Amino acid sequence: MKIGIFDSGLGGLMILRKLARQLPQYDYLYLGDTKNLPYGNKSQAQIYKLAVRTVEHMFKQDCALVVIACNTVSSEALRKLQQDYLPHSRFKGRKILGIIRPTVETIGNIRRVGLIGTRQTVASGAYRRELENIDPDVKLFAVATPALVDLIEAQRLNRTVEPLKIYLRPLIANRIQALILGCTHYGLIRKQIRAGLPKNVKIIAQEDLLSGKLESYLKRHPEIQSQLGKSGKIILEVTKLNPGYSKLAKKWFGKHVHLSASNNR
Ligand code: DGL
Repeated sequence: MKIGIFDSGLGGLMILRKLARQLPQYDYLYLGDTKNLPYGNKSQAQIYKLAVRTVEHMFKQDCALVVIACNTVSSEALRKLQQDYLPHSRFKGRKILGIIRPTVETIGNIRRVGLIGTRQTVASGAYRRELENIDPDVKLFAVATPALVDLIEAQRLNRTVEPLKIYLRPLIANRIQALILGCTHYGLIRKQIRAGLPKNVKIIAQEDLLSGKLESYLKRHPEIQSQLGKSGKIILEVTKLNPGYSKLAKKWFGKHVHLSASNNR
């Protein structure tokens, strides 16, 4: 069986690239729901409906677990997927994991944390809730950054510099010690974000932390780990193909990895 990675678009590919380097033995299925992107401006009900469809498709393709790399889906639909969908589906023994809890678990001694994410991620309060569970004394300063995803998907990375100046200003004024990149896409503009922040502000990027978290999860869950195929195969699917994605997939995963349009949805 496979490990599934679900994102709304391109961003999650960065997470998969790291996983494939750090846990190369496993088989992976990546699903980017590019046809329905951006998720960040959709209602909770719309996000849940799309997420059920995608997760189901991934389970049908033999994923033992699906990691929801998308912060928007993790914020708005993870709990409902785990509590309402999974126990009543025909995939009961499978797992659905989110990205928010593992992210906030890495903040260590940091007391003033900044967050950038989509409108829905910020409005959901999911990061605030998870942080409060871990340490109620941590202060979170969150800013929705809705202009970024479309620019990143269009691969106009340097066009994010100006909007970033405006988005980061209140966070810098609040003297944050670390900034969570609370959207898979933002890893692609890490350079631009770094340049807009004071040097002492640490960047918390999910592609840096997920492999370690997944590895320790699989150690704690041998019943899942033992079901996983170990031939290092990677399947990449998007719901709407475009030449830019194919080029990027080849660049990151090599010529032999093929990006195809998902046919089952
Ligand atoms: N990839 C999504 C996330 O991590 C955001 C992109 C979108 O709006 O679809 O939040």
